[in-house]
Amino acid sequence: MAEKVHFSQLGLVNTREMFKKAVAGGYAIPAYNFNNLEQLQAIVTACAESRSPVIVQVSKGARDYANATMLRYMAMGAVQMAKEMGNPIPICLHLDHGDSFELCKNCIDNGFSSVMIDGSHLPYEENVKLTRQVVEYAHQYDVSVEGELGVLAGIEDEVSAAHSTYTKPEEVEDFVKKTGVDSLAISIGTSHGAYKFKLKPGESVPPLRFDILKECEKRIPGFPIVLHGASSVVQEYVTLINQYGGKMDGAVGVPEEQLRQAAKSAVCKINIDSDGRLVVTAKVREYLAQNPGEFDPRKYLGAARKELVKLLKEKNAAVLGSAGKA
Ligand code: G3H
Ligand code: 13P
Ligand code: ZN
Repeated sequence: MAEKVHFSQLGLVNTREMFKKAVAGGYAIPAYNFNNLEQLQAIVTACAESRSPVIVQVSKGARDYANATMLRYMAMGAVQMAKEMGNPIPICLHLDHGDSFELCKNCIDNGFSSVMIDGSHLPYEENVKLTRQVVEYAHQYDVSVEGELGVLAGIEDEVSAAHSTYTKPEEVEDFVKKTGVDSLAISIGTSHGAYKFKLKPGESVPPLRFDILKECEKRIPGFPIVLHGASSVVQEYVTLINQYGGKMDGAVGVPEEQLRQAAKSAVCKINIDSDGRLVVTAKVREYLAQNPGEFDPRKYLGAARKELVKLLKEKNAAVLGSAGKA
């Protein structure tokens, strides 16, 4: 295993300053997931060109896929690449949905500047205990910690007021105080993936529970709140996928106006993974269908990367409001 490294040696930053400015400025920091070189290149290019601070995040699965040591140097390369573009921007490397103390510790020891410990599925007191344990370790190294309260709805769940997966506002103050977390993910009606709502013909997407968000804000004023499951599932890409041999009927996400509304409040980190996946899949499918003799990965991955830059720049400008804030 590679020797320990601190995030500052890689040129990364934690979330403290980013979140302070975002909460005060009424915008959100984009938290884009990546698994490979082309996705990271696209994120860095888009955010450097937008002059947007950025959180690049990896799930446990992404870390296994990319290799922990490779990731460390990719993150270092991302910082350097932005600088060489003449656009140095604050970049945070974040563990998305950490599921154990050991994984969080391992990421901290490997140069991550922020980790999420997701104890949202645990009974409240166990969530507090696990989150507290991660915070105690992370803060020794100035690494930020995101916790979560409330479970994001899955497509199988009925997203209704009676359903207890929404965050309970009456718990947030106690959780933040007892754990010492730096930010809190809450559940207000979003879900992960490309099928966020089961809509009957003619039905439109139900609004997010802004009332719950408001209640949370009231109890922890100015505290950084995080929104997971925030892909809009851009229909242009779903259509391309279906046009070129894919099958993604009924894929639907959170309307961009609702995300913009959330970004203007205490929501200061918005997590987007599925939208990036859709762009890559759509463009690779399109390219290969239109160029059946092509077998150079630079060609079809290059086409995907180019489109991803375009999408992320649009998100920074029109959804997150983070463009120009670096
Ligand atoms: O929240 C989940 C992220 O979209 C990561 O997904 O575990 O398939 O990498 P993954
Ligand atoms: P999406 O699936 O909506 O992109 O959500 C990503 C996410 O929340 C990562 O933690
Ligand atoms: Zn998530």
